[in-house]
Amino acid sequence: MLSRFCTGVNRGEGREQGPDPVAAEIRTDRVDGKRVGVIGMSSESPATTGWTAEIEELRRRGLFRTMPKMEGLPGRTCWVDGNHVINFSSNNYLGLAGHPKVIQAIVDAVQRYGAGSTASRLIAGNCEAHRELEDFIARWKGTEAALAFGSGYQANIGVLSSLTASPDLIVSDELNHASIIDGCRLSRAEVKVYSHLDLNRAEDALKADGFRRKLLVTESVFSMDGDRAPLKELRELCTRRGALLMVDEAHAAGVHGSKGQGLAEELGITPDVQMGTLGKAAGTSGAYVAGRSDLIDLLINKARSLIYTTALPPSVMGGASEALRITASEEGDVRRARLRKNAALFHGLLHSHLRRRPEASHIVPVVIGQSTRTMKISAECLGRGVFAHGIRYPTVPEGTARLRFTLMSDHTDADLRRAAQVLEESLEAVPEES
Ligand SMILES: Cc1ncc(COP(=O)(O)O)c(C=O)c1O
Repeated sequence: MLSRFCTGVNRGEGREQGPDPVAAEIRTDRVDGKRVGVIGMSSESPATTGWTAEIEELRRRGLFRTMPKMEGLPGRTCWVDGNHVINFSSNNYLGLAGHPKVIQAIVDAVQRYGAGSTASRLIAGNCEAHRELEDFIARWKGTEAALAFGSGYQANIGVLSSLTASPDLIVSDELNHASIIDGCRLSRAEVKVYSHLDLNRAEDALKADGFRRKLLVTESVFSMDGDRAPLKELRELCTRRGALLMVDEAHAAGVHGSKGQGLAEELGITPDVQMGTLGKAAGTSGAYVAGRSDLIDLLINKARSLIYTTALPPSVMGGASEALRITASEEGDVRRARLRKNAALFHGLLHSHLRRRPEASHIVPVVIGQSTRTMKISAECLGRGVFAHGIRYPTVPEGTARLRFTLMSDHTDADLRRAAQVLEESLEAVPEES
């Protein structure tokens, strides 16, 4: 059950929550319960009636998506749809996706363990490479244990649906990622969504009585805005209100913390459930949950997104282990320092286009508003050699479409200056009324 906790029309629903308005608007191909023909769609089978109209409606609203064609090794520059460009759209924050040691570790693991894991972790897919990775993560994070998942999406839905059910309560930030929202839905717990970063609203939500268990879930660094959750205050709040604190460090792991462990470590707090991904700063694929060993035992026994899927290939685990070793090493410190420097410079260059916030982030959103204009500006940037993808509803709330610049430690000052200049030119090339 999802209850809307905040006041205001869209606030409190979080990203991708509620009925899909696109689908709702265009399902007009039934009259009095009977299917009626849709003009221009006579060749469709009854089962596919409406697809074309749905697609057309997405196009009309500037929400139709296609997949850019990427070529070559991922790095600070890349090939997109045949253009050689500076890449401001990957989550490869530390440049590890193309790091020779990470690539070599993957090659070594393939030769040692073969191409695939051949089964789920609980059957025959739990090889040495998985255990090594998890042992490393637990030491790095300072937790009793850790558990690898196939992806961050799988980790979030697995944790939330394992730890909570009816009659439990989940309290969730309104801008939490779709995987958290879907985990909330799957859990069947009652969900109260609080206004973004609003501690008072979060506390009001946690005051509710009559629940078996309460859990507050937040991202640490928000994926589409780059701002940070007040983790210290949330830790204190959860302890006071008897709630579990779950933190998604997808965009903070590798970037924050004394050795890249995440924002929680940087702030000196310990969430009950710490989730991080391996496909972003760690440059490979997969995700992990770190915490007490009884939490991990519970997940091994209950998380359907771990139990009922083939384990990640050992090669990916081998590459991820190497990536985390680099992250925790002096080389990791150097890369983090360069990323911080890049963030400060880029925020300075773009300051007139950014919402004010206390800290510079490696995720830099330039909010445009309208989806169609956003995508046109993104295309202009691409044509001028800068890849800054447009982000639209339902990934962000309607009316807040944006270019999302993601920075890498490998970007040079010249890359950043070029991006700022290209942004200005592209904004000018696509005036507001277009
Ligand atoms: C905050 C957050 N959590 C979870 C995920 C999912 O991680 P993955 O891409 O590994 O599925 C993402 C990104 O996609 C994310 O931004």
